[in-house]
Amino acid sequence: MTERYRTRIAGTGSYLPEKILSNHDLEKLVETNHDWIVERTGIHRRHIVAEGQATSDLALHAAQSALADAKMTPQDLDCILFCTVTPDQPMPASACFLQTKLGCRNIMAVDLNAACTGFLYGLTIADQMIRTGFYKNILVVGAECISRYINYKDRETCILFGDAAGAWICSRTSESDPNVIMTSHLHAEGSLADLLQMEAGAARKPLTQEVLDRGEQFMKMKGREIFKNAVRTMATTCKEALSATNTPMGQIDWMIPHQANLRIIEAVADQFDFPKDKVILSVHETGNTSAASIPCAFEMGKSENKIKRGQLLLLTAFGAGLTSGSMILRY
Ligand code: UT7
Repeated sequence: MTERYRTRIAGTGSYLPEKILSNHDLEKLVETNHDWIVERTGIHRRHIVAEGQATSDLALHAAQSALADAKMTPQDLDCILFCTVTPDQPMPASACFLQTKLGCRNIMAVDLNAACTGFLYGLTIADQMIRTGFYKNILVVGAECISRYINYKDRETCILFGDAAGAWICSRTSESDPNVIMTSHLHAEGSLADLLQMEAGAARKPLTQEVLDRGEQFMKMKGREIFKNAVRTMATTCKEALSATNTPMGQIDWMIPHQANLRIIEAVADQFDFPKDKVILSVHETGNTSAASIPCAFEMGKSENKIKRGQLLLLTAFGAGLTSGSMILRY
């Protein structure tokens, strides 16, 4: 009889850089104010990468915490999936830098770009590679230095984003283990790509002095459109995950949504009449950290003694692309 494998989350970790950018700090950079930012987004502060640090440096801390939590060493890893839109450099992959910093064997190491849905894309690919028996232990990292792509004169974006890293170790377990990834659902709507993008700095529009002068290297966003699509896509994909596993929303212990804006998160929870105190939040502390958002929120929920082993978690995200996704897992 062929053995069938499933994926358990063996260990988790996250890392927030020390430097903090508060709403009051932003008041000195653009025409905004603390009360507006809190009322419209729920964000109080965000963490910003230090001079000279890059994305794989943040990821290293998160990965080491996840390995310690899983009681594993870097030698145990078979693969690194590094989810980011802000890699250390265009080539080679940040995953390769992380591999050598961690001291891994010469294992597969690759970057994935699915923006804020990146971590769910990474987990899903890891789950599939584990189920087929291809690998036993996969490090999935979501890490971003988004502050490097923010125009601190654009008040619509600069108030929202922060830097961070999160990491989970996905490991092979048996079919009888109840604590596994149960279902995942991923989407992308490329036709809406212009709503949120970094236009320049790659093959279509290489960096020239004119491009830099026009600020086309920075992240641009149509905020209101993104807001509506975020609520729509996250609610839709949550329904997919609930229906695929035949799970009533009342059975979900914790919802861990992408942390972009408190109002978006509450609008999604409201669609299911899901109690707000069962939604894990970190947006007040981190702002939107893109691919790092879900593992950082998870870690906050764990450190606050909310999330416990054996509980049923609903994860959901959306991001540039427009990508979106959901996952139900028993932790
Ligand atoms: O991972 C995906 C990433 N992106 C997102 O999730 C972002 C989704 N969008 C949002 O979170 C919201 O659309 C924003 C927070 C960006 C904006 O909030 P909003 O409630 O949609 O505001 P708005 O764009 O409708 O603007 C309302 C007013 C405008 O003034 P007028 O035209 O009413 O006079 C804006 O100019 O607020 C003004 N405004 C600001 N005021 C103070 C816009 N940004 C700011 C600001 N501070 N930072």
